[in-house]
Amino acid sequence: MKLAERMSRIGVESAFDVLVRARAIEAQGRSVVHLEIGEPDFPTPAHIVEAAKKALDEGWTHYGPTAGQPELREAIARYVAESRGIPVGPQNVSVVPGGKPIIFFPMMALLEPGDEVIYPNPGFPIYESMIRFLGATPVPIPLIEDRGFSFDLNLFRDRLSDRTKLVILNSPQNPTGGVIPYDDLKVIADLVRDRDLMVLSDEIYSRIHYGGEPPASITAFPGMLDKTIILDGFSKTYAMTGWRMGYGVMPPWLVDAVTKLMVNSNSCTASFTQRAGIAALEGPQDCVTRMVAEFRRRRDAICQGLNQVPGFRCAVPGGAFYAFANIAGTGMKSKPLADMLLEEYGVSCLSGACFGEYGEGYVRFSYANSLDNLLEAVDRIRKASVRWEAAMVS
Ligand SMILES: Cc1ncc(COP(=O)(O)O)c(C=O)c1O
Repeated sequence: MKLAERMSRIGVESAFDVLVRARAIEAQGRSVVHLEIGEPDFPTPAHIVEAAKKALDEGWTHYGPTAGQPELREAIARYVAESRGIPVGPQNVSVVPGGKPIIFFPMMALLEPGDEVIYPNPGFPIYESMIRFLGATPVPIPLIEDRGFSFDLNLFRDRLSDRTKLVILNSPQNPTGGVIPYDDLKVIADLVRDRDLMVLSDEIYSRIHYGGEPPASITAFPGMLDKTIILDGFSKTYAMTGWRMGYGVMPPWLVDAVTKLMVNSNSCTASFTQRAGIAALEGPQDCVTRMVAEFRRRRDAICQGLNQVPGFRCAVPGGAFYAFANIAGTGMKSKPLADMLLEEYGVSCLSGACFGEYGEGYVRFSYANSLDNLLEAVDRIRKASVRWEAAMVS
């Protein structure tokens, strides 16, 4: 049986493929330090797990409203209104199984062949996958290391066209850890405000940042709330990747469209996990503070270590839990270098090119692993560096 033509245009997420390869190497009895997958290594906080257990005992095991339980939609609206300083209510909220469906469903609802989508490159691979899958036209904008991995704003302005239907922003960013500065967001808002387009603002890492002020959201600028979809969720903030629960905040007409796609695909997000979601948002937040403090220690250690590896240069990221090392000085391409680190030195990491063409020349290390393991990884990478140093000499 032949698959539909559109399936030839859908992409994948390399982190999952590399994880499988790393596990196969471990199965041969070799040690691997896992710095490929993007998920907090901490357990889900106990009070959230308890809330889910209680919900199961109470019988939250049936279908619920497709757009999400009213109490959770209200809790999300309160949280998003307060954290971003914007007037949103439960009618703006769509609860879905993970953050990813807020890429899939709104793009499915909005895009037609020929529509142009501006998106960050290197960037989360699902953006480009979905753009191509839907027959829309990808318009990648390179992230500039010297600008803290933000856009070249002149280029952004030049790439906007009458066919631009969607602009995707991601801050804090995967894979670079970059945070879009407030002033850049203001320029972007000024450029798109009067255009007939939507903005998808992927804020899944909004709580994992290392500056004083939380990263700004484009929704806070005048006129932007009506044309923005915020993507956020529980996966990263509360170490709940396996629970599959996320949400989008958007104008009600788009909530309706997403709800139709949800009823055709999932019916609803699991009911007992939604009770746990309420506990996550309304319970104590010191678990998040502690996790971010630990990520900061690890960030400082891995960046310092990577900067001592010959041929590597690693900017200190402002958010998320990724170090995006520039490897131009090694004389190697990203994929062969990442493959060598995994296969010969037991350090599982991702080639920057997995995140798009402008990721070439970089390797992503997720520092969602213990400090000891990070130091071990740096030690192994330092040992590997004799290989590229020798190749440079000969
Ligand atoms: C930038 C970005 N957006 C969205 C997601 C999806 O999150 P979830 O696991 O909740 O679907 C991820 C996960 O890695 C991500 O890095």
